[in-house]
Amino acid sequence: MKNTTPIAMGSDHAGFALKEFIKDYLTDTGVAVEDCGTFSEASVDYTDFGIKVARKVSSGEVSRGILICGTGLGMSMVANRFKNVRAALCHDIFSAMMSRRHNDANILVLGGRVIGTELAREIVQTWLKTAFEDGRHLRRIEKFDTIAAISE
Ligand code: RB5
Repeated sequence: MKNTTPIAMGSDHAGFALKEFIKDYLTDTGVAVEDCGTFSEASVDYTDFGIKVARKVSSGEVSRGILICGTGLGMSMVANRFKNVRAALCHDIFSAMMSRRHNDANILVLGGRVIGTELAREIVQTWLKTAFEDGRHLRRIEKFDTIAAISE
């Protein structure tokens, strides 16, 4: 994958070990990472770290992010409240691939208490190398940011 910005990564305590594993894997393969915390297994609120990463993706400061909590659910809920963010919780390779092809997902969410490190590594690898297919899928995702206006 050609990325001009680092991958912003964030986790809570339940995702910390997997964040460290994926961060080391990415760094070893030459992918730049911006670690937004947390930095230990001390209990924290996933919300705070989801906000940090989602804000960077939403503003365009970085093009991609990876968020990890225990299940991935809380991080997904937080991230998808941000404009321009399309966060995908993926625990299998097919979903990771399709989240890029059809949804142009710009944040990958993982559950550190759900999957093991090797599957997580494969998911990240697939997610980073798969391109968006554009075309009719662009029209569909462009409608996402009109939802706030409809629902307010
Ligand atoms: C933390 O105990 C846990 O609730 C959190 O990591 C996450 O799974 C929330 O969705």
